[in-house]
Amino acid sequence: MSKLNVNIDLVARLREMRKTTYPDLVEAARIAEGAGCSGITVHLRGDRRHIQDEDLPALKKVVKTRLTLEMAVTEEMSAIALESKPDMISLVPEAPGEVTTQGGLDVAGNFDAVKACFDRTTPAGVHPGVFIDPDERQIDASLRAGAKSVELCTANYSVVQPFQAADQLAGSKACPTAEDEDREFELIEQAAAYAREKGLLVNLGHGLTLENTARLAALPGIEDFNIGHSIITRAVFVGLEKAVLDMLRVVEGAPEA
Ligand code: PXP
Repeated sequence: MSKLNVNIDLVARLREMRKTTYPDLVEAARIAEGAGCSGITVHLRGDRRHIQDEDLPALKKVVKTRLTLEMAVTEEMSAIALESKPDMISLVPEAPGEVTTQGGLDVAGNFDAVKACFDRTTPAGVHPGVFIDPDERQIDASLRAGAKSVELCTANYSVVQPFQAADQLAGSKACPTAEDEDREFELIEQAAAYAREKGLLVNLGHGLTLENTARLAALPGIEDFNIGHSIITRAVFVGLEKAVLDMLRVVEGAPEA
């Protein structure tokens, strides 16, 4: 059975939008772990739009499952990983101004930097992982650079799933079809099997939702799913009623339920 890591970056993003002390990232990690997830994932971006440096030690103190730090391949981030010692790092590409991570890291094209990062952090006990496209060349390069896990990017699969997205994309060249979905699924399936044969742990993530995850979860041998945006945004709806009721009670001067 695959495990779920919850990416809580969006909780930090909501906090950073107003530079408030809430919503509390540590509380988010506690609730996700309490619900049974197997890990907490955060991305410390160069522009610090999500979590801040001081969030890492705070999370490290409370996370009982496994803390994964997503980070760019830079000197700065390697030093932060060495200092904060998350259980795992996942190397990701980072482009200035991007809304979210755009595809996997080109490990083959940045081989020396990726290897140097793993050479520094792995001996400190930090599990070496990397986020790549479902592509054998990138899997081979990741293995040679010292990765023990690969997270295969599901972004292309998730834009063609669920099908209702087709209406919004109609007219654009990305207009998805059932064949597109099958093609993207098969790429992930084949890359996952190839990476496992090579002895790598295989994780999947990006753009996954309640609707589009089940097909991937049926694949054999997927270790972890890394899911954030759809979980945190859905929490607005599954929790909004109680949030309004609690405030209503305060406004009306009644005791909290
Ligand atoms: N995996 C990686 C490497 C990511 O960068 C992200 C987004 O931060 C995720 C998984 C989670 O994607 P989503 O927020 O779309 O679930």
